[in-house]
Amino acid sequence: METTHRVFVGDSRDLAAIDDASVELVVTSPPYPMIEMWDELFTALDPAIGDALESGDGRAAFDAMHAQLDRVWAELERVLVDGGIACINVGDATRTVDGSFRVYPNHARVLEAFESRGFDPLPDVLWRKPANSAAKFMGSGMIPPNAYVTLEHEYVLLFRKGGESRGFEPGADRRYEAAYFWEERNRWFSDVWTEVQGELQALGGGNGGEDLRDRSAAYPLEIPYRLICMYSAYGDTVLDPFWGTGTTTLAAMCAGRHSLGSELEEPFVELFDDRVPDIPALSRSVGRTRLERHREFVSSRREAGKGFEYEADYYDTPVVTKMERGIRLREVEAIEALEAADGDEYGYRADHVPLSRE
Ligand SMILES: C[S@@+](CC[C@H](N)C(=O)[O-])C[C@H]1O[C@@H](n2cnc3c(N)ncnc32)[C@H](O)[C@@H]1O
Repeated sequence: METTHRVFVGDSRDLAAIDDASVELVVTSPPYPMIEMWDELFTALDPAIGDALESGDGRAAFDAMHAQLDRVWAELERVLVDGGIACINVGDATRTVDGSFRVYPNHARVLEAFESRGFDPLPDVLWRKPANSAAKFMGSGMIPPNAYVTLEHEYVLLFRKGGESRGFEPGADRRYEAAYFWEERNRWFSDVWTEVQGELQALGGGNGGEDLRDRSAAYPLEIPYRLICMYSAYGDTVLDPFWGTGTTTLAAMCAGRHSLGSELEEPFVELFDDRVPDIPALSRSVGRTRLERHREFVSSRREAGKGFEYEADYYDTPVVTKMERGIRLREVEAIEALEAADGDEYGYRADHVPLSRE
């Protein structure tokens, strides 16, 4: 099986290079409005944003920043198929503007934007990030009433385009082979994610260093990898219109899906080439980690005195449900850069084989 991955250097407010109804899944994390690291970028997209910040009008700046994101959401509506899913990772911002501290509720504004475009909101995920510092508390220390709650979570907002789910032909291999294990379902479809800093993140760490990760606000590999496994089948195409360092494409490669991306900053895109040689080993580790975790689950379930009714077709392991039998993980065997269609496009072709048993 072969997948293709294309990245456009450009502005996602216009995704003209991507056809209507050609994408099954969007997984992305935009620049968060009212987080200072993105002020310059938003001001470049609309100079009125800089003026609003300078004049101390935080609410006007927040609205104008979201107006820029709205243009990207409009493009997503165009390129997604009916029943396609959009997964938007976003956090709220706290900020003092003109002496006044408040929260800017990005998640609520994004939810409103998608709903007003006719998307159906689906139950979302709260991604709880690890708390590690006592110095994080804001406000007046131990005296009431002017201290503030510290934000230590982000959202993964989920939307379906149109009122109906996607259909597949009965028994479609590309869907059944993309099944996930029962215990993965229990963890992934829980509404609070706490353990995302797991092994897959360490595996995805080789992206040119912490500096790049900080500058790009990259998310851990496990976030897009889970979402891709949850909401797409083999053969589907995943789009990230705020591509950054390409974590979504990396996850799509590991998961055996096609991908598309669009990113304003060419240096981020160029750096992806450095990660390419590691992708076959990364994809194998991701698959093997899943199998190892499943075998640990099998042992603990047996220790608890519970049995299994089914055997997986392709792996030497029992599974809880009939639907899991067809699971077939893939690994990247080889990957090569495609000739750029023009100077602003990067592309890769990956050859996938079933994950080896050992
Ligand atoms: C939060 S970062 C995404 C990080 C990415 N998820 C990763 O793991 O590396 C947002 C990215 O969107 C890019 N960006 C912002 N506005 C854009 C636009 N209008 N078109 C294309 N890219 C944009 C920024 O340059 C930045 O790299």
